[in-house]
Amino acid sequence: MRIDVGSVAELQESGYLTAKLGTQPLCVLWHEGRAYGIDDRCPHLGFPLHRGTVDAGMVTCHWHHARFDLTSGCTLDPFADDAAAYPVEIVGDRVVLVAEQRPFDAPGALRRLDDGLEQGLTLVVAKAVLGLLAGGVPAREVVAAGARFGCRYRAPGWGPGLSVLTAAAGLLDRLRPEDRALALVHGLVFVSRDTAGHPPRFPLAPLSPPSTTTGPPTGPSADRTGAATGPSAGQGAGGLGEARLTEWYRRFVETRSGDAAERALVTAATTLDPGALGRIAVAAATDHVFLDEGHVVDFTNKAFELVGELGAASATWVVPTLAHAAAAATRHEEEGAWRHPDDLAGLCTAAAGRLPGLLERAGWVGGLAPTGPAADFESSGGPGRLAGEIGGERPEAIVGALEAAISAGASAEQLSRAVALAAALRVARFHVQGDHADWDVVHHGFTTANAAHQLSVRSPSQLLVRGVLHSAMKVFLDRFLNLPAARLPTATDGDLGDLGACMDTEGRVDEAGAVVYGYLRSGGRRTEAIAALGAATLREDAGFHWFQMLEAAARQAEAWPEGSEEAAWVLVAAARFLAAHTPTRRELPQVVRIAARLRRGEALYRDDGEPDPGG
Ligand code: FES
Repeated sequence: MRIDVGSVAELQESGYLTAKLGTQPLCVLWHEGRAYGIDDRCPHLGFPLHRGTVDAGMVTCHWHHARFDLTSGCTLDPFADDAAAYPVEIVGDRVVLVAEQRPFDAPGALRRLDDGLEQGLTLVVAKAVLGLLAGGVPAREVVAAGARFGCRYRAPGWGPGLSVLTAAAGLLDRLRPEDRALALVHGLVFVSRDTAGHPPRFPLAPLSPPSTTTGPPTGPSADRTGAATGPSAGQGAGGLGEARLTEWYRRFVETRSGDAAERALVTAATTLDPGALGRIAVAAATDHVFLDEGHVVDFTNKAFELVGELGAASATWVVPTLAHAAAAATRHEEEGAWRHPDDLAGLCTAAAGRLPGLLERAGWVGGLAPTGPAADFESSGGPGRLAGEIGGERPEAIVGALEAAISAGASAEQLSRAVALAAALRVARFHVQGDHADWDVVHHGFTTANAAHQLSVRSPSQLLVRGVLHSAMKVFLDRFLNLPAARLPTATDGDLGDLGACMDTEGRVDEAGAVVYGYLRSGGRRTEAIAALGAATLREDAGFHWFQMLEAAARQAEAWPEGSEEAAWVLVAAARFLAAHTPTRRELPQVVRIAARLRRGEALYRDDGEPDPGG
């Protein structure tokens, strides 16, 4: 499109002329006897560039002083995006801007996403995400880009950033459509923060074949799904199978040999099926009680959830990032709380010794699942009743209840679901008079129990049952954090619209729980409650534990029947946890709002120089 923007004389006199291409403001700047066409909205936050300073072939924006090359429009300051430059023709005494709407540049947007991640620029990340989604790039590919970055640029391997990104990815379909981009930005910004200051990771190759490359594909031109770069499952590996690789991986984690553990794990990832790989990772993650406050089990689960999002081929570069974290983890049997006054670690060890025989008698096929129907277990109250027993006062009785459930035919899924419910009730009943830091203690119990439950569905194994035992002991260990216990809500109706107000001021923890409970008890659907909790979380500067809590609560609520008391309690736990930590400064959502307004072509800055409050 050719736009007549004014006369040459006008341009020379004022130094600039302005025009519009659709909603996009443009300007022509006069400098050193030439006319330059460029976007008139600073790509950073929208200041009109014609009001900037033109000097030495650049225009400098007055708001945050980003500099732009007049010829190309590109910025010299990476916190601002490149502006678009346009050809200008002088036709007689008229100035004609030649401007075309530019087609969406997906590789360019992915490059900008990498820039934003690398330099910790939330606005750049937000603009890239919004652009990619608007350009039709599937959210899964945006997640893949963040995952590649997180796996490559954090030497210690898997960390909270990748966990939050995975949680955000897992929540996408449960969120309101207008919240999905925000969730992705939250996850990506966590990856960026979590890699900042770390040297990059140099992934180790599998043992065989020696030429295999296993690092995540690099650069925006790489396969967005993280397509396999190693051999297909079953090839190579020099005759190593699941049993030997399990033995090795457990040994190397036990002896804190991080590199050896990674090499064993990447070999498993390139040669075994995902189920076997999961069992190997779980085995080492549960060889000690509650490694790193349960984070090792949680990270293990999250890594496999990420593989589920990106496709099985991504296991070769995602799962090996777990090895160093597992090898370096704190072992809680070395801590007094797990030894005195009750030797909980000893109880777990003794119970683990009885497990093989117990599971065999219960008819678990190949040690993976019981064969027969769990009629006895169900008729004796099933997971709901077992959860109550796990919340008991004597650790031996809790272990006994779990063993009795196994004998009655309970599956790993049922056992772990019961433990997760008991752990959720610790959060739901945490009293506001408690030490605020203890919210995180009960949170760890719940999110780790949820991880064990998810793993029990994805990669059930005998060894995983030890992890369920550990979580049950953690529920016992946290019993005093329910003294005094908050009353479970009894509301019979509630309006999810009131949830936001509960998060606007401190101290409305019980009210938030009552709103969610009342809504569900009056027939409300849990999908709506989860979406509302998601919206409430995303409008805050939500922390790592918040995302863990929200996603775990969503999955656990869905594990119980619609309309059940159990599902309601789990979501009450999440609502109370969130309300206990709000409000925050809400900076990240504000940045995403700005990015969205810039995308829509809204002016943030009026021509009179005043901020435009916009919508
Ligand atoms: S540098 Fe231009 S708006 Fe910030």
